[in-house]
Amino acid sequence: MNKKLLTTVLALCGTLSLEAQVSTSRNVFIYSPAPGDGLHIAVQEGDIWREAGRLCSSDYGTWGAEKKMFYPSVCRAQDGTWRLVFQVNDRAPLFAAAYSRDLVNWRPQDYPIMTTKQCLEPVVFTNPDGTFDVYFKSPQGKRWTSATPNFRNFSPDRASQISDDAWLRDTATVGGKLFEGYGFEISPMEWAKIERHFKKSGEDWRKANERMHDDAKNADLPRETVQATLTVDLSKQKKISDKLIGIFFEDISYAADGGLYAELVQNRDFEYTPRDHRGWTATTAWHSAKPIEIATENPLSKNNPHYALLWTDTLWNEGWDGIVVEKGKRYDFSMYVQAGGQKQDFSIELIGQDGTVLAKSKLKTNAVSWQQYATVLTAKASDTKARLAIVPLKAAHVGIDMVSLFPQETFMNRKNGLRKDLAQVIADLKPKFVRFPGGCMSHGQGLENIYHWNHTVGPLQDRKPDFNIWNYHQTRGLGFFEFFQFCEDIGAEPLPVLAAGVPCQNSANNAQGIGGQQGGIPMDDMPAYVQEILDLIDWANGDPTNSKWAKMRADAGHPEPFHLKYIGLGNEDIISTVFEERYEMLCRAIRAKYPDIKICGTVGPFHAPSADYMEGWEFTKAHPDLQYMVDEHYYESTGWFMHNRDYYDSYDRSAAKVYLGEWAASTKAKRPNIETALAEALYLTDVERNGDVVEMTSYAPMLSKDGHSNWNPDMIYFSNTDVRPTPAYEVQRLFSVYGGDTYVTSSFSGIASAYQHRLGASVVRDSKTGATYLKLVNALPTELSLTVRGLDVPATADTEGFAGKPEEQQLTITKGKAGASIVLPAYSFRVIKL
Ligand code: AHR
Repeated sequence: MNKKLLTTVLALCGTLSLEAQVSTSRNVFIYSPAPGDGLHIAVQEGDIWREAGRLCSSDYGTWGAEKKMFYPSVCRAQDGTWRLVFQVNDRAPLFAAAYSRDLVNWRPQDYPIMTTKQCLEPVVFTNPDGTFDVYFKSPQGKRWTSATPNFRNFSPDRASQISDDAWLRDTATVGGKLFEGYGFEISPMEWAKIERHFKKSGEDWRKANERMHDDAKNADLPRETVQATLTVDLSKQKKISDKLIGIFFEDISYAADGGLYAELVQNRDFEYTPRDHRGWTATTAWHSAKPIEIATENPLSKNNPHYALLWTDTLWNEGWDGIVVEKGKRYDFSMYVQAGGQKQDFSIELIGQDGTVLAKSKLKTNAVSWQQYATVLTAKASDTKARLAIVPLKAAHVGIDMVSLFPQETFMNRKNGLRKDLAQVIADLKPKFVRFPGGCMSHGQGLENIYHWNHTVGPLQDRKPDFNIWNYHQTRGLGFFEFFQFCEDIGAEPLPVLAAGVPCQNSANNAQGIGGQQGGIPMDDMPAYVQEILDLIDWANGDPTNSKWAKMRADAGHPEPFHLKYIGLGNEDIISTVFEERYEMLCRAIRAKYPDIKICGTVGPFHAPSADYMEGWEFTKAHPDLQYMVDEHYYESTGWFMHNRDYYDSYDRSAAKVYLGEWAASTKAKRPNIETALAEALYLTDVERNGDVVEMTSYAPMLSKDGHSNWNPDMIYFSNTDVRPTPAYEVQRLFSVYGGDTYVTSSFSGIASAYQHRLGASVVRDSKTGATYLKLVNALPTELSLTVRGLDVPATADTEGFAGKPEEQQLTITKGKAGASIVLPAYSFRVIKL
């Protein structure tokens, strides 16, 4: 930029004499109170600057250490829109860039990567032709510039001679403290919009804080039985999705290894590393009298390079917090052995906590190169915390790897199968689909950790283990074949969700110091990644006689296709330019080769009006040919759910469908209880009402193992010995088991508007069975006496439901009859089967 132009731009972008402005327009001051506090706006009132609120904050990098905004620079474009750049830290070769039409809603941030290693104090200027220039410094004080026509694509940086004047900022005293920032004069209308935004945010916040737990203090609520009428209009019916309730499976909180995957040996492949978890090594969970020798020469598989070398000492495995052994049950033991032809016999034993030998079997080996040996152990007694012992009976040097112990009783007695009790509770929910392999775990912690489905199929020893974003290890024993098989076993549609060419936006820095989406998979590598996604469809649905991928499926025991219909791309990603470019490329390739596959995109990690949600939907509507459905995520308070029950009412019915892929209500207790369950039940009555636009929903996360929780609340808690479905589970189960494909319009009357949000009703019909279900939710602290009009509710109709106190974390399901009159107790949910 030349100097004359810079002077013009500086006049446009700020350097006002702020303390003296008087006008019918408003003087505002845009600044950042602290790096972790984002971009704020203050307004001049008389002689003082009043803080009005936060406009946006940094979305860069990991939570905690990153997400900081240094030296924000703001300018106003010729067309009145706003541009923001800021420094993210003092290490990254990039800066942050975002734009807004109104200062209130900001497009998701981009982080253009520069050749300069550190991009310090970026400043932005607008040019008369509508383009922008960004200037920044490197640590030695050298100046650099990058140009952008659209604020999305930035030119490579080049050296600049720009003067120090470019870094002049305004100052203002806000709340008694002097800040540097940028002053602007905006119109009264613009200011009114900003004020409305902050006022609404305040009201929303107040509503979101409503808690059933505090109902005794809530003067808006009734104190005596409420009499109401529910009018059902049988003439007003509409088709709704018959797949509304499914499950979200993610390997979080030990959901897979040590959880649903029935393998009883921990670190069976000796592949644990400190990347999985600080302090972990190839011998974690293994014990011996002397240090365990680990070798890597001539491994069983290049994907599993480590194995243990045994001599005469017994090798113990502690299992996953111990091994549960049940008297009379049979266990399949196997391991690979390599011994250069030496003979070795082993005694394979299960040892109880008091040293009792619970089961024992002899294994004779005589392996030259890697060979698998197996035996069956039958338990003579039970123990909940047994250990596995591999006892060498001779003096011989042998390598062992892939040491495995499986109960013969798995879900559906599958080999390499799932824990029976846990899988059964999931199956009882009758989910219509299963989303896997997760949320954050799908897109991974950095580019290197993106989940590649093809690393998870084939012989177990050739699958590629990896670290888990949730701070432990993935063996991939529970891989895509097992996920698809589980779907088939429980009659659910498979919904694989894979990365859209970008890792999690909360990823840590890579070797180049680039965090967050790390620039996405390089465009040169994208064709290979696109092919990988196409291969998945081929693997799942192809013909083994002419497809190598389908043959792999057939070789694994499933020659028939899996009939994959849906594929998810992206998981609550920041909808950056980097994301959109890669996502569109993936969609176009799938649409071209497999036009019948229904693509599910993502609209970011939060609900309206968050930046990613707004941009995600804008992109979706601008590309109606690309995707069938988009994935929305929101974890919210019970108050939020109760006050946003019309969320989907105004959704465009001609746009993409919605998959509410992750959601859960929570209170401060962070555990599902009657209050969260009722808020979820209320919301689901509205989801059913909007079942013509919402195609699928899944509560998240689903599983959490005691002592290994990464997240709360969860739907099902479990230990090695028990499985504890929560109130959240029961709500999901009742809506799933008593779901339908047709919605019948109904409405309440006789209820004060102050507590309408506490009552819910939904009537659905299932055309396959002819059944009609009436669901009723009473989240009031008083009884509800209900008259139903327009629908015959026989006194003998079966009912199922629950009632309790808001804070109770356990509930009892009661079954009964509708009775002559319908009275719902305080805090209750009931399904009436008609
Ligand atoms: O459900 C837990 C996590 O929440 C998921 O991994 C992620 O997608 C979301 O942020």
